[in-house]
Amino acid sequence: MTTTNITKAAQALINDEIIAIPTETVYGLAGNAYSENALKKIFELKKRPFYNPLIVHIKSTAFLDTVASDIPDMAWKLAKEFWPGSLTLVLKKQPHIPDIVTAGKETVAVRVPNHPVALALLELLEFPLAAPSANPFGCISPTTAMHVSNYFKENLEIVLDGGACQNGIESTIIGFENDKPILYRHGSISIEAIERIVGKVQVTTTKNSTPDAPGMLSRHYAPKTSTYLTDNVPELIPSFSGKKVGLLLFKDEITGTENILQEVLSRTGDLAEAAKNLYATMHRLDKSNLDVIIAERLPNKGLGKSINDRLERAIKK
Ligand code: TXA
Ligand code: MG
Repeated sequence: MTTTNITKAAQALINDEIIAIPTETVYGLAGNAYSENALKKIFELKKRPFYNPLIVHIKSTAFLDTVASDIPDMAWKLAKEFWPGSLTLVLKKQPHIPDIVTAGKETVAVRVPNHPVALALLELLEFPLAAPSANPFGCISPTTAMHVSNYFKENLEIVLDGGACQNGIESTIIGFENDKPILYRHGSISIEAIERIVGKVQVTTTKNSTPDAPGMLSRHYAPKTSTYLTDNVPELIPSFSGKKVGLLLFKDEITGTENILQEVLSRTGDLAEAAKNLYATMHRLDKSNLDVIIAERLPNKGLGKSINDRLERAIKK
C-alpha cells in the first residue's frame, strides 16, 4: 500500500477514495474537498468528531479565491510571504465549500503545502484536497509513511511516500478577527516570523471542548505511555525509581543514570531540527514498552514555543 506513484495516487482521489499524502509538516489523510462522500470517509477512518474542521490544500496562491472570499490584505501578504509553506489561513469560505469541511462554520482553513510530491499531486487534480493529519484522533501525528501504515494497516489503500517530513510539526494557523491577526495554533512557522510581516499577533488561549481550532484541545498529540513535562529532568527521575523510564531531551543527555532510555532532539540545540525529530522520537519512545516518558521543556522562543505546545498536550493531566 505504500507507493511513490503519484499518478496512481491521483487516480484514487479522482475515484473518490482517500489516501495518505506527504507534506512538509506531517502526513495528511487526503480526499476531494468538494466530495462529501470522500470527506465522510476521512472522519470515519480518523475517528474524528464532526465539530473539528479540516484544512483545505490548494496548489497555489492563485487558487485562494476559489475557496475563500473577502480576503483581507494581511492574508494576501502572509500568503505571498509563506506559501507554499507551513502557514494555514482561516478565511471566510466560498459558499460551495461543503459544511463537513468547515464543521458548519462560515470560515475555511486553507494552505499551499511545500512538498514536491504534494504539489505534483495537486497539479494532477481539478479539486483541492481536504487533509487532516494522518493519525487517529488524539494520537501522535505521523512524519513518515511508516507511521501512517502502522496506524491504518489494511484500512488505507494508498500511502504516498514522500520521505520524512522536513518540518515535522503541523502548520501554524492564523485567522482574522476585526481585521486583526489571531493565532489559533502554534506550528512550523514561528509567531515571531509572522509578526515580522503583519505586526502584533494575538494568541488564543481557548482550551474548552469546542475551541476555534481543536488543535488547541488540551490532550492531543498524545503518546499512550504516561508522559511528564519538566524544566528539570534530573530532579524528576528519582520519583520513578523501579519504573522503566524514557527521556525526551532537547540537546544534552543526562549523565549518571543507568538503564534509562535517552532520546535527544537536537545535539546542537537547533530548534528546527528538534521540531523535525519531535514526533518520530515520540513514536519511538511510545513503542519502547516504558512505564513513563519524562520530556524536557524547551526554550520558550521561536519554534521552541510550538514544540512546548505539543509537549504540553502530550502529558497526562
Ligand atoms: O500541517 C498541517 O496543517 C497538517 C497537514 C496535513 O497539512 N494538517 C493538520 O490538520 O494539522 P489537522 O486536521 O490535524 O488540524 C487542523 C486544524 C484543527 O485544529 C482545526 O480545528 C483547525 O485546523 N481548523 C480547521 N478549520 C478551521 C476553521 N475554519 N477555523 C479555525 N480552525 C480551523
Ligand atoms: Mg491533527
